[in-house]
Amino acid sequence: MPPILEIKNLNKTYKSGFKALDDINLEIQEGEIFAILGPNGAGKTTLISSICGITNPSSGTISVKGFDHTENYREVRKMIGLVPQELTTDMFEKVVDTVNFSRGLFGLQSNKLYIERILEDLSLSDKKKYSN
Ligand SMILES: Nc1ncnc2c1ncn2[C@@H]1O[C@H](COP(=O)(O)OP(=O)(O)OP(=O)(O)O)[C@@H](O)[C@H]1O
Ligand SMILES: [Mg+2]
Repeated sequence: MPPILEIKNLNKTYKSGFKALDDINLEIQEGEIFAILGPNGAGKTTLISSICGITNPSSGTISVKGFDHTENYREVRKMIGLVPQELTTDMFEKVVDTVNFSRGLFGLQSNKLYIERILEDLSLSDKKKYSN
């Protein structure tokens, strides 16, 4: 089974000339819980944005479950969920509607039962009708 996330020789130099990522290599297995820690400006957001396809790395490769994140970007994006710290889609929208909306962003059909199960697994069922 390929790693859920594999990063090889990843570099990012911003247009300003600042090198935010310097030869990052990383392998995470499915089911592993992984935290990225570092001081302000260390490059955490740049790395996460690169993995999610929000920022284009300057060089190197990113694979998700064996799929290259550039060549197979559709498959890769279907497998990644990003929960930003501060931004929400609509702060008055219910939790269950927000989760449902994000499926649509990746071309997935609405699936009420699946969402109910995920919220149950995450102990969030009792909050599903709350606003963000
Ligand atoms: N668009 C940009 N153009 C130029 N430099 C940038 C840009 N975005 C980030 N940087 C620089 O790249 C470095 C890494 O920034 P990044 O936001 O990835 O760090 P971080 O680890 O997420 O920091 P924080 O803990 O403050 O969230 C910083 O020095 C930052 O100033
Ligand atoms: Mg950050």
